Amino acid sequence: MKKRVGIEALAVAVPRRYVDIEDLARARGVDPAKFTAGLGAKEMAVNDPGEDSVSLAATAAARLIQQQGVDTSKLGMLVVGTETGVDHSKPIASHVHGLLKLPRAMRTFDSQHACYGGTAGLMAAAEWIASGAGAGRSALVVCTDIARYGLKTAGEPTQGGGAVALLVSETPDLLALDVGLNGVSTADVYDFWRPVGRREALVDGHYSITCYLDAMAGAYRGWRERAMEQGLVRWDSKLPSEQLSRILYHVPFCKMARKAHAQVRLCDLEDSGSGPATPEARDEAAKSQASYDAQVAKSLGLNARVGNVYTASLYLALAGQLHAEGAALAGQRMGLLSYGSGSCAEFFSGIVGEKAAERMARADLDTVLAKRERVSVEEYERLMNLPYDAPEAIAPEPGTFRLAEIHEFRRKYAGA
Ligand code: CAA
Repeated sequence: MKKRVGIEALAVAVPRRYVDIEDLARARGVDPAKFTAGLGAKEMAVNDPGEDSVSLAATAAARLIQQQGVDTSKLGMLVVGTETGVDHSKPIASHVHGLLKLPRAMRTFDSQHACYGGTAGLMAAAEWIASGAGAGRSALVVCTDIARYGLKTAGEPTQGGGAVALLVSETPDLLALDVGLNGVSTADVYDFWRPVGRREALVDGHYSITCYLDAMAGAYRGWRERAMEQGLVRWDSKLPSEQLSRILYHVPFCKMARKAHAQVRLCDLEDSGSGPATPEARDEAAKSQASYDAQVAKSLGLNARVGNVYTASLYLALAGQLHAEGAALAGQRMGLLSYGSGSCAEFFSGIVGEKAAERMARADLDTVLAKRERVSVEEYERLMNLPYDAPEAIAPEPGTFRLAEIHEFRRKYAGA
């Protein structure tokens, strides 16, 4: 498995409306600082029933193809990672395949494991290419989700929605993956789940944070062990995690990335055999503001303005990071941590490509976000209360898809 493989380009699609998080806090009688400083949020994407997980996925994938001039005849696989499936049987991937008129000779499927499904899809695609089974073809991996807990729930300020489409190939202009170094950790837990037939997720909020941190510790240690065997990191005056230029985390809410980063550092501090002697001193060193500012903070610009996008949250952080610093990071190794409740965590790494800044400029993320409309809390509540199967008749913006109707359980889409 020595081929160069990874992410060549990406595109982002978000709902066309958002609510300001301070407006939401005031409407709920909560100190706005709890949502801004306490959770790290600024804005929250709000979708209407016409902007379902299929239309967001198809919009992101179509945008990727158009912006980056993708030759679709070279695609051999389409995987959609999602928590927000629309059918027990027919995958979102088949809708996207049809809407984009992709070649027949393609493997298409959905990948589900809460927020981890997109990473499972990325690894299936990357390892398919790296093994040679792809025979030079590329893969599309689309992460799409609508994070929905319901009005006036504890999870409400951590909702959001959108999609990130990734082109995976032997030309990893954005990120060349260190295939085979990944560390993983699985546990059978009920921290966040959505029983069949429910629109809103169920979550044991504080327990879910503990589950995330526990799983990520196992995944990080697994990656670190392999990275040390390969001589990519070592016990040194710098912690192994500090030898990564940046670390991107699954971001259910921005403050979680800060907690996750402290956990990675704690793993290093506990395992180093040197450093602070007492647990209190180790905790203090783990929470280093300087390390968070240098390695994590700049990845969160998009997440803070969109909210949770489950499978896409880590890849929104990747987009935000490369949008902010693509040129400066060229040639440098970053770490990435994916977490899906239920649970599975995976820590992996890759090297930023020389053309990252050029590829990200084509993704035009500032325009994607600037086109959105700020809505009032009343309008957000009206949209949340609309039935999922009766989308309002709104003409799709050019280049986007919308759910037009569901007739006899068949979904029909318009646009692009
Ligand atoms: N000013 C500043 N900060 C304040 C504040 C104020 N006035 N009031 C509270 N805060 C801080 C708190 O100290 C706390 O910070 P710390 O965690 O650093 O201590 C933070 O704001 C949140 O306060 P609470 O814990 O009291 O908030 P809560 O109980 O209302 O709920 C939550 C928080 C559990 C995250 C809830 O929003 C939730 O359930 N979210 C959904 C679940 C989730 O996102 N889990 C993450 C892990 S699971 C996962 O990652 C998968 C996934 O995508 C869902």
